[in-house]
Amino acid sequence: MITVAYLQTSPLLGKNSKTLDLTNIMLKGILHADLIVLPELANSGYNFISKEQAVASAEDPSGSSFVEMLMKHARRLNANLVSGFNELAGDGLYNSALLVNKEGVAGCYRKTHLFMHERDFFLPGNEAPLVYDLGFVKLGMQICFDYMFPEFWQHMAMQGAQLIAHPSNLVTHYAWKVVPALALMNRIYVVTANRIGAENNLSFRGRSFLAHPDGAVKFKAPAKEAVASVFSIDPSIAMDKRVTLLNHVFNDRRTDLYDQLL
Ligand code: ACM
Repeated sequence: MITVAYLQTSPLLGKNSKTLDLTNIMLKGILHADLIVLPELANSGYNFISKEQAVASAEDPSGSSFVEMLMKHARRLNANLVSGFNELAGDGLYNSALLVNKEGVAGCYRKTHLFMHERDFFLPGNEAPLVYDLGFVKLGMQICFDYMFPEFWQHMAMQGAQLIAHPSNLVTHYAWKVVPALALMNRIYVVTANRIGAENNLSFRGRSFLAHPDGAVKFKAPAKEAVASVFSIDPSIAMDKRVTLLNHVFNDRRTDLYDQLL
């Protein structure tokens, strides 16, 4: 068994330093975890009013005090953290998820499927998502609206991901229907860490959750409270891709019939 947590926060748009302090206080409340997942754009907030505001709150991970704060908790807990991050890379901004351990940034995924006005601020990631072997679990990362693309999930599950960390800023109600079904269809765990609060007429839905490989939703957070939730899971369950003794979610596919759709 391993211990996993999500942090459901409320970043303050454009106020990185105050957001860092609030996130730090919440992380201090976690006393044991192997893996902690934070929301999308957890360092900066989401619904920027201008490109200038997005740029002003973007950070290069190598000089970021937010990343240093995450590293401090990685050392304290001997944990890995996945956090949404407004990433400055050269002249471009990416809506990224960073994998942070006690030594620093061990992985980065840049959001591929940009949602609504994100295109005004961010470049899309152009690389296939990697699966990271953390020793205790094989980890994939997706960010919020990426959930709408089933091929993406299958790509990661077929590369061995047992758990997808899913930093989110969900504003519609669809993910609670779709993500548990994708967890079941790929026989994987998903930790959706969503945020709460509102920014410039956009309300975020909270209700962070763990989806189990059997499709059950567990440890659902409230809609409007900043909370941390810590739970135990058995990653080995995600290695069994059978849905009955005689049916396997990958081996039973008939790609000879529908490969052209992929
Ligand atoms: C979203 O992708 N932030 C909905």
